[in-house]
Amino acid sequence: PSSTTRLPDGDLAVGGVPLTEAARRFGTPVYLLDEAEVRARCRAYRDAFPDADVHYAAKAFLCRALVRWIDEEGLGLDVCSAGELELAVAAGFDPRRILLHGNAKSPRDLDSALRLGVGRIVIDSPSEIARLAALVGPHGRQKVMVRVVPGVSAGGHEKIRTGTDGQKFGLSLTDGSAQHAIARILGQPQLELTGLHCHIGSQITGVRPYLAALRRVVGLMARVRDAHGVALPELDMGGGHGIAYRPGDPALDLTTLARRLRAELVESCAVAGLTVPRLLIEPGRAVAGPAGVALYRVLAVKDTGGRTFVAVDGGMSDNPRPALYGVRYAPRLVGRRPDAAVRPTTVVGRHCEAGDILADGVPLPADIRPGDLLAVPVAGAYQLSMASGYNLVGRPPVAAVREGEARLLVRRESLEDVQRRDVGV
Ligand code: LLP
Repeated sequence: PSSTTRLPDGDLAVGGVPLTEAARRFGTPVYLLDEAEVRARCRAYRDAFPDADVHYAAKAFLCRALVRWIDEEGLGLDVCSAGELELAVAAGFDPRRILLHGNAKSPRDLDSALRLGVGRIVIDSPSEIARLAALVGPHGRQKVMVRVVPGVSAGGHEKIRTGTDGQKFGLSLTDGSAQHAIARILGQPQLELTGLHCHIGSQITGVRPYLAALRRVVGLMARVRDAHGVALPELDMGGGHGIAYRPGDPALDLTTLARRLRAELVESCAVAGLTVPRLLIEPGRAVAGPAGVALYRVLAVKDTGGRTFVAVDGGMSDNPRPALYGVRYAPRLVGRRPDAAVRPTTVVGRHCEAGDILADGVPLPADIRPGDLLAVPVAGAYQLSMASGYNLVGRPPVAAVREGEARLLVRRESLEDVQRRDVGV
């Protein structure tokens, strides 16, 4: 599942750059992003979904270079804050190909969206409707979609399941709140409803939940047509496509998803007598995740209480996913031959919390020692984008690797940076 390759001397390489060299040049921890891998994943989406608009979900990870790659590969963007939106536009992205999401859009979010001219704003609550209409003003018109909750449960962890009633996102399809919001939007001349949106969850590895959600949302589109005489031209099925974090983990197959979604869309529209809407999707993790590698240095090794602990110089402040969702990674040691003798090892971070565990009982070379480099593949999504300032260690830098060359994209957050924001006495 990773773009790391083992070199004959035991070193690992990403994008043709040996990890020892990357560590020397950028220090550790550092995140490496394989540009060719990101681009290949964008292209795989374009190939699998030739008739759809693919929007990369910026929350997975965003920086200027990535914005440019996404742009050059012909994808749109899904953002959920003024911060993501303004970075993308500053990097030259066409705002008309950007969708704004969010269950609690701030005045700044909406102001940026309208000022910069985002393509679509996805309404998540009824109170947004009048608020947005007032901001648009009497002469303008903003394209919007409505996020509906189809009542389908899916996703890799309870905290990332968003397809059923009882969680905070969207408006229920079953209790009528989605229908109610749709009616109100249709009564607002400042808003143009282009379609419906749903995002049922993240790290989903099967296609069935998508098909079930699609059927229900198309059913709602038919009811909208019956009630209001309006044929909505767009259907956004969100993201959530699951990837393998460890060898052998299940992953969602893109071509299968594309084929089955298209077939289901055509069939359910035929049954409902609807013109087939344009399909939109919003993958985040599946574009960026496998293209990233986190590189750490081992700071301590100890055998105690019946376990071997290896502690590295990063952890839950750059990757909160194990602590939040209990997920486990498959770290690889740099500088050992593949036939090195291994033993079960628990890889932990440097943070003052016992839950700061990256990998539990994974086989790592028995002679692992302080100073070694440890690579964590599949680190490109929801790690740095969810990084925190815990323990004031500073956030790691990001470098792009491509054809044997590395270049810095985001610099390390220094301890001076950390202190600079603290302006009180
Ligand atoms: N569209 C919407 C409206 C979303 O809320 C999300 C993710 C996506 C698209 C992209 O989903 P993806 O294709 O990346 O699964 N922090 C969690 C994942 C949270 C996902 C939030 N929304 C994790 O690390 O697993």
